[in-house]
Amino acid sequence: MVYSDRIDAMQQQSSPEIKPENRYAKDWNSYSQMWEQQFGSSYSYLGDEWRDDGTGERNSDNFYFTAYAERFISPDMTVFEVGPGSGRWTVRIAPKVRKMIVLDVAEEMLQRTKARCESLGINNVEYVLANGQDFQPIPDDSIDFFFSYDVFVHIALEDTFPYTKEMLRVLKSGAQGSCNYAINSVHKAWERIEQHNDWYREGKHTLGQFYYFSPEALGRMFEYCGLIVKEQHQEGYLCTCVFQKPTEIRQNFANSQQNWAEKEQLCTHLQRVTNELKQAKIWSVELERGKAWLEEQWKNWQRLAEEREQRLQAQQVWLRELEQGKAWLEEQWKNWQRTAEEQGRYLEDLQSKSLFRILARLGGLPHPFRQR
Ligand SMILES: C[S@@+](CC[C@H](N)C(=O)[O-])C[C@H]1O[C@@H](n2cnc3c(N)ncnc32)[C@H](O)[C@@H]1O
Repeated sequence: MVYSDRIDAMQQQSSPEIKPENRYAKDWNSYSQMWEQQFGSSYSYLGDEWRDDGTGERNSDNFYFTAYAERFISPDMTVFEVGPGSGRWTVRIAPKVRKMIVLDVAEEMLQRTKARCESLGINNVEYVLANGQDFQPIPDDSIDFFFSYDVFVHIALEDTFPYTKEMLRVLKSGAQGSCNYAINSVHKAWERIEQHNDWYREGKHTLGQFYYFSPEALGRMFEYCGLIVKEQHQEGYLCTCVFQKPTEIRQNFANSQQNWAEKEQLCTHLQRVTNELKQAKIWSVELERGKAWLEEQWKNWQRLAEEREQRLQAQQVWLRELEQGKAWLEEQWKNWQRTAEEQGRYLEDLQSKSLFRILARLGGLPHPFRQR
């Protein structure tokens, strides 16, 4: 059994009804539950403990917002954010757009974002509890800008990949997005991996675990999912990708390229079939010739057979005549023998009557009356 078959067999055995608890939801809900106790005395909101640059104004966050959100948004837009935490970015983006949708696997995080937005009078936000697999119920082609920060660094490849396909689905044609990932193509990443390895080994802890890509692998994933990577900005072991859903013209172009590829394949196929047809025609002419030759041979053979048959019949007639001649000769021979015997007896008779001696003296007798 090959490896992929074994996986298939295991998947068939496991019951689809029993859904395992979403570990991301479990981890992040529990992080939320312990947050007040651990960080509540130092920070106002969950998430302030990350990227704390020591400036009260959070200059670092402000820069990130300007560089990877603000320049892409406008007041008529619907913006979609994945993994808002306690709304660190939501409260910056939502006031600048028409509508915002935030999606998170952890209910606690959604509640925190909601409470924070409402406390600031931000009411244009829709909250979606995610199933961890896709972006349902966000409709197709409905989003003007996608945003996510510090979320995909914690999502494993098997979940990142379908999410990326979902980005393509929900974005409008030509709409853009920005999302950051962890990369291990820099030395710093390996220092971090070395530091954290034991903590995460054997799945003992998963909260905040990093899943690493390389900028090149990210580019390939986006490309594979049908998105165009427009920018990649590295910051240590983090990489922010700015991407775009191809416009319809580009999609049509891609489709037409696909059509060209199919057309080329068809042409190659047609060429092969034409060549085979030509070859078949050559064979058919050869076969016709062969058939004519065979028919000629067959006629010759029939003629020969007929001649031989006629000769045989003639020989049989001769044979019969010869047999008749032989029978006639045998008959003659028997007659002759009989006559000879009769003549012999007659001569013996004459001898015995002594007249023979007298006639012998007179000059002998002509054959067959000659004495032996
Ligand atoms: C490290 S926090 C970042 C929060 C926020 N983006 C920020 O920068 O402050 C990760 C967030 O992503 C959410 N999350 C984790 N895994 C997720 C997944 N598979 N699908 C959706 N949200 C997820 C968590 O619940 C949490 O809100």
